[in-house]
Amino acid sequence: MESETIVTLSSFLVEPNPRPATEAERAQKMVSPAFGTVFTDHIAMIPWHADRGWHDPRITARASLSLDPAASVLHYGQAVFEGFKAYRQPDGSVATFRPNAHGERFIRSCERMAMPGLPVETFIEATDRLILQDRAWVPTHPEHTMYLRPLMIATEAALGVRRAQEYLFLVQASPTGPYFASGIRPIAVWASREYSRTAPGGTGMAKCAGNYAASLLPQEQARSKGCSQVMWLDAKEHRFVEELGGMNLFFVLAHGSDKVVVTPTIEGGTLLAGITRASLLELARERGYRVEERLVPFDEVLSAIADGTMLEIFACGTAAVVTPVGRVLSNEGEHVVTEDEQMGPVSAELRSALVSIQRGTAPDTHGWMHTVPGTG
Ligand code: PLP
Ligand code: COI
Repeated sequence: MESETIVTLSSFLVEPNPRPATEAERAQKMVSPAFGTVFTDHIAMIPWHADRGWHDPRITARASLSLDPAASVLHYGQAVFEGFKAYRQPDGSVATFRPNAHGERFIRSCERMAMPGLPVETFIEATDRLILQDRAWVPTHPEHTMYLRPLMIATEAALGVRRAQEYLFLVQASPTGPYFASGIRPIAVWASREYSRTAPGGTGMAKCAGNYAASLLPQEQARSKGCSQVMWLDAKEHRFVEELGGMNLFFVLAHGSDKVVVTPTIEGGTLLAGITRASLLELARERGYRVEERLVPFDEVLSAIADGTMLEIFACGTAAVVTPVGRVLSNEGEHVVTEDEQMGPVSAELRSALVSIQRGTAPDTHGWMHTVPGTG
């Protein structure tokens, strides 16, 4: 089913938006863009058909989609997405962070949801072409970035429960400020034992829409307890910490006079293999920290908070970057990691190392940054 067709940049049809935002409108929208609320003038779009593969790629005006009411995404939820960012560089060019890794994860998500894989080259070309078209929307504000949201949905009009024969890939771009309205101040998280995110053999490793739909009710429960995210525990025993609803988790533990950086293992396939997570693991190792990817019992987290050996907890992801966790709430009560309004030193060190690479103020020794052709 996977199409080998590679759609090249030159084959993209560009249909400029006949009514783009004026410079003044754009400037006004970009003053303080809350996450996911401001969108650029264009989207990238590539349809797929079982008989034709990927075809007719285009950059076109952002507008409502027209879908048949029987489109199978509306009924059976074949929908996967990605999230990554473009950063304005000191020389004015625009670079994306690890688009290859996001393109590869997109393929893994598609495979799990029985959807056709989009070649990584095409994934990158579509986003490059969109960024080039809408480069005026890439923020210059040091705290703002352009969030890119690739999406694939099943568009075939058919009510049979089977993989669809038609899909649409699209990318939209959204200039954004910090994900949390509170900025990077510590957040509180609710450890849910009532609900589960995904079970072994489920879709936890895929960035599919259903995972997020199922998280909304527990997320509201978390909010009602004053928490901004659910801390998911494993579905089988509710014993091990997995991740947050849209972020991975790290723990900084004291080990004698040393600090150990610990993050839940992704081996069980129930967590999203975060690209920020993988990058921070590398940065932490390079800085000489002992790093552990392993099962993290929730009891260990609570006892380390209680005895003071839990030095820092932080969440990480494309949207959240590195965000400190100040409090963990659970059925056992409230567990305060820190009363400090600032993030801890290890979180701050790793955040700064990552952001400096993304912003082009530190050398990109890992080859993580991809300059968008034509923006230099
Ligand atoms: N976990 C979940 C459930 C997510 O939605 C995200 C965000 O994409 C992450 C983790 C972090 O992944 P990444 O660092 O690749 O953005
Ligand atoms: C991201 O960080 O890209 C996410 O997708 C998290 C959330 C906004 C869904």
